[in-house]
Amino acid sequence: MHVDGRPLRTLWGATDRDALHVIDQRQLPHRLCIERLTGAEQAHVAIRDMWVRGAPLIGATAAYGLALQARTDAADAALRRAAQQLASARPTAVNLAWALQRMLARLLGLPLAQRAAAAWDEAEAIAEEDVATNQAIGRHGLPLLRAVAARRPGPVQVLTHCNAGWLATVDWGTALAPVYAAQAEGLPVHVWVDETRPRNQGASLTAWELGQQGVPYTLIADNAGGHLMQRGQVDIVLVGCDRVAANGDVCNKIGTYLKALAARDNGVPFYAAMPRSTLDLSLRDGRREIPIEERDARELTHIHGRATDGRWLEVQLAPDGCRAANPAFDVTPAALVSGLITELGIVPAQADALHALMEGQA
Ligand code: MRU
Repeated sequence: MHVDGRPLRTLWGATDRDALHVIDQRQLPHRLCIERLTGAEQAHVAIRDMWVRGAPLIGATAAYGLALQARTDAADAALRRAAQQLASARPTAVNLAWALQRMLARLLGLPLAQRAAAAWDEAEAIAEEDVATNQAIGRHGLPLLRAVAARRPGPVQVLTHCNAGWLATVDWGTALAPVYAAQAEGLPVHVWVDETRPRNQGASLTAWELGQQGVPYTLIADNAGGHLMQRGQVDIVLVGCDRVAANGDVCNKIGTYLKALAARDNGVPFYAAMPRSTLDLSLRDGRREIPIEERDARELTHIHGRATDGRWLEVQLAPDGCRAANPAFDVTPAALVSGLITELGIVPAQADALHALMEGQA
């Protein structure tokens, strides 16, 4: 995608294969800061502290983290230790474990001398495949937006939650890929952007990236979505996913479930966009089995932003000593999901369809 008119990805490897460049997303939308990560430990910190976030992007970052580890010590024990540490950075998005398992499966059978080069190649392959996957999600989701446009004049009204755009992936995004595909073919689209408390990925990231790409959007409070749906101002809800269980339950950023309930009540289609690396067939029941990340209460009791004089400020919202609970994700039951937009096509959120999808059929 583009920043200030210039193409940019969310990560890229150094030409000398000795570092990974990432955007420090904590600084957005006020500063575009590129950080250089030179080891697995730094990649772990970047994922844990959300310099990078979004399920596909943390998977790709972890893959490069393991490749950086392989440059210094590629012995079985060192790789396994680094993979375990990287995997522990965030528990919910399964793409992290998926990417690390793929890296280990590729590397552990190789002679030691070949591992560093193979690790870098594999990390690059994961990143490149992510880009192609997301473009395919965009192609498969586009007909949903075309169908709305064919029914009535005016822009297609999309509502999205959190950030599942290019910043959450290597490029293009998942939920926003159909929006960018629509824009590319001249279909008018407008996006309602949930602010997405408590970390405000909608306000700081989705709003920024849509603005950079020239897609019209309006920021709304998280609680406004149901009201807009009642008023007929939302044609379709498009969200990303962090893990989808075998029964089709969709785990995504906290608050997604409430959007799905409001969408069902108002007859608004609710689609989740998902690369196959987000599917976890080892879990039968998403609501019971998907681990939900509990984050620091400070994300609720305090808020960050830029003061009018340009300084970066953290401000306390809640009373001193206030207790706060901060589950970062929720699970939308499969019955509320109109379909899953994948790189192979749109599939129902149902066990048989998801097993077929894993075998390459949509
Ligand atoms: O906590 P985050 O910012 O990593 O959460 C991200 C989301 O919930 C995204 O919507 C999800 O990862 C899908 S990403 C394409």
